[in-house]
Amino acid sequence: MRKIIIAGNWKLNKTSQEAIELVNSLNRELVDVTSVDIIVCPPFTALTEVSDVLTDSNIDLGAQNLYWEDSGAFTGEVSAPMLKAVGVRYVIVGHSERRQFFGETNVTVNKRLKSALRHKLIPIVCVGENLQEREANKTFDVIRDHVEGSLAGLSAEEVKGLVIAYEPVWAIGTGKTATSAQAQEVHKFIRGLLARMFSEDVAQAVRIQYGGSVKPENTAELLGQEDIDGALVGGASLKADSFSAIVKNSVSVTTK
Ligand code: 13P
Repeated sequence: MRKIIIAGNWKLNKTSQEAIELVNSLNRELVDVTSVDIIVCPPFTALTEVSDVLTDSNIDLGAQNLYWEDSGAFTGEVSAPMLKAVGVRYVIVGHSERRQFFGETNVTVNKRLKSALRHKLIPIVCVGENLQEREANKTFDVIRDHVEGSLAGLSAEEVKGLVIAYEPVWAIGTGKTATSAQAQEVHKFIRGLLARMFSEDVAQAVRIQYGGSVKPENTAELLGQEDIDGALVGGASLKADSFSAIVKNSVSVTTK
């Protein structure tokens, strides 16, 4: 059984004060929703304040990245123990924006992932092709490369507990959502890969989110697909009304 998981990736948005206001509204709007896992991923600077507001909330806290060393001379980085200490439970790893703008590779994604798992953070591992790759019919090759490279050396037990987010780069922030059929096709492919790499049991346990222009209007259709277990939401997670509507529209889907 896979519980639906909706996460908001706030990216480079929200000061601490703005973050507190947003999370206060979400707490009010979503207080009754228990059938769906709800996560917000503010920037590092707002984690502590948001964590305080989320005490006793059904909304969980996630971070947008982490470094793989626990401490040391790594100026500007933040480690898993630091995230744990402020109440973070989930962490996004390998987002396409990190791959595109900050030199992230499968090798560095893998290191971050291992550090997150070592410290009992739940990773949300992002994979996805860009437009050029899709148009060149390389989608499945890219996804295979991202999944195999990111998860290299992990045990079946470790993989079982993580979340994968399929985010086609061409659908991120463009308003251009993958059709539910396009998304389902890739989600099914990822689940098949997991079955081959680990076991059918692992493949059935891993939750695979879709990300890329998710909005209240397309949530139910996307989540209605057999292998789509949730959403990683960017732009629409920055406003309480749209993020709440996405969560509420996912409630009818229940578990898979
Ligand atoms: P948008 O929902 O703004 O397209 O962003 C998706 C995303 O990148 C979430 O991580």
